[in-house]
Amino acid sequence: MLKDRFGRVINYMRISVTDRCNLRCRYCMPEGIEWIPMEQILRYEEIAFICAQAAGLGIDRLKITGGEPLVRKDCAVLVSMLKKIPGIRQVTLTTNGVLLSDQLEGLLEAGLDAVNISLDTTDREAYREMTGTDALEQVMASIRKAAGRLPVKINCVAQQGGYENEPVRLAVLARDLPVDVRFIELMPVGAGRNLRSLPNPQVLRMIEEAYGRTAEDPESRGNGPAVYRRLEGFMGRIGFISAMHGKFCGECNRLRLTSTGELKPCLCYADSVGLREILRDNRAGKEERVREKIREAVRMKPRAHCFENPEDITENRRMAEIGG
Ligand code: GTP
Ligand code: 5AD
Ligand code: SF4
Repeated sequence: MLKDRFGRVINYMRISVTDRCNLRCRYCMPEGIEWIPMEQILRYEEIAFICAQAAGLGIDRLKITGGEPLVRKDCAVLVSMLKKIPGIRQVTLTTNGVLLSDQLEGLLEAGLDAVNISLDTTDREAYREMTGTDALEQVMASIRKAAGRLPVKINCVAQQGGYENEPVRLAVLARDLPVDVRFIELMPVGAGRNLRSLPNPQVLRMIEEAYGRTAEDPESRGNGPAVYRRLEGFMGRIGFISAMHGKFCGECNRLRLTSTGELKPCLCYADSVGLREILRDNRAGKEERVREKIREAVRMKPRAHCFENPEDITENRRMAEIGG
């Protein structure tokens, strides 16, 4: 079992498989960015090797993220490689959903356990403005296709600036489909520094005004920081990831592996431990050297993020490079 200095058990690793994306969400990917060269990006075999070492130490849940993971070729192959690692109990994916309906069968066959789909609006024009792409229909098709076949959560970053009603409209998805809809407070990382999101307490008030009182659902905590509430007559739940207005660092259970093989102890700080060099040199004892680096990253985990003091944030990379 991996335990950090503050007694937290670390059993979950997020893996960014690419920094590339087919959307341009304003808080994540402004135009004109440069991609990381391919040779710096870990190969699937290298990711699987790291995960096998992490599993040996106590990591049992893996999350595949990006950028957009489904723009990388054969993402389903990675899922099946990770699912075969002894000790790994769950492999899940976070995607923008644009390519999901095409790849869903392959991912299910590979053994994918659950999927999170990012969607900030159900209005076609607003979607185009927010993401720079006219792809709402593809995402909706993916949601309809996936719902009921594996657990689905919709991730919405509730934004200010004319988009205040989107959360209330998005919540309808949890009423009509067996999916959870979650609201994420924008974190001041990367381009997220330039935008304002709606505070989750306000989103909750708006949802209750529209659909009635919600009740806490304490038994349904997932692997992450979301807390869930139920609404009468809704098939799915409404969840809140209140990074700013409900610091959840005391329960943090995770490490992040960037697409270039840096192991990050916390989203908020630039500190990381490099694994790629170890993987690519020819010296013996790679397994143990990677394990020692994983232990080091766990030892480095800080007590909490400092998003409330933006001048203390040291992470300057884009969200897509660090895996969200
Ligand atoms: P599951 O609920 O198990 O699917 O995991 P998850 O909530 O971690 O998954 P997801 O990839 O959908 O992440 C949703 C949002 O939560 C993203 O915006 C993440 O940046 C944010 N988030 C996830 N983990 C952390 C964390 O450790 N710290 C902070 N501050 N935010 C996080
Ligand atoms: N703050 C909060 N969430 C963010 N995401 C991307 N950038 C940020 C940010 N600065 C979200 C996406 C996606 C998830 C993986 O991360 O909307 O749902
Ligand atoms: Fe792509 Fe996700 Fe960033 Fe949007 S938030 S640009 S979907 S990586």
